Amino acid sequence: MNFTQNKSEYDFIAKIYDPVLYLVLKPIRIAVLNVLLKYKEKSILDLCCGTGNQLKLLSRNGFKNLHCLDISKPMLEIARKNDSRIRIYNEDATKTSFTNESFDIVLISFALHEKDRNTQENFIKEAYRLIKKDGFILIVDYNFDNKTAKLVKIGINIIERIAGKEHYNNFKGYIRNNGLLSLINKDKFELVKAHKRLFNGVAMSMYQKTTTNRYT
Ligand SMILES: C[S@@+](CC[C@H](N)C(=O)[O-])C[C@H]1O[C@@H](n2cnc3c(N)ncnc32)[C@H](O)[C@@H]1O
Repeated sequence: MNFTQNKSEYDFIAKIYDPVLYLVLKPIRIAVLNVLLKYKEKSILDLCCGTGNQLKLLSRNGFKNLHCLDISKPMLEIARKNDSRIRIYNEDATKTSFTNESFDIVLISFALHEKDRNTQENFIKEAYRLIKKDGFILIVDYNFDNKTAKLVKIGINIIERIAGKEHYNNFKGYIRNNGLLSLINKDKFELVKAHKRLFNGVAMSMYQKTTTNRYT
């Protein structure tokens, strides 16, 4: 285990993160499980895993090669509870200690929208570096279009506003820039599957890595 000194705003809300968001996130966690079921034997890294809620669900459903990475120690303390089979790393997702092509699948769930553009790009670059040839990246995050329910947009806006000024400005930029679509480099990743959840407010996008490491 590799500990880092970095601080995260999530240090202060770690204990309430799951209870507050449980009901909203539960259908999304189940949808991710369903997408990944056919990859049960693969190694999966959850980059910015938070409380590890998603990986715990995978673990309960027979997945064995699970890795959970986050910058916040308090979030990882929760992740460590109730499941000792998941490997946990306290690291910065923009510069992890893993060697190239260490994992079959990298998951990034609700971690892009709240970051500035540079950090978003660095998360994707690092994920690309870590994914094996022909492996996958699964990204779960907000995506608004004309099918997104108005009430959902309002609700998400309120949650993001409460999260703080910088967080909210990054969220607005992410939505304005068409979310993930403007971030993913089409030369490096090919879309395999895309689903919308939460009344079309959340996109789950699975891409396959199409080249060997050469992200610049
Ligand atoms: C909105 S939470 C999402 C947590 C989890 N993926 C989920 O779906 O519930 C964002 C997480 O990203 C983590 N995070 C923020 N910056 C990070 C970084 N540079 N490296 C690793 N984790 C980071 C935070 O500590 C927090 O746990």
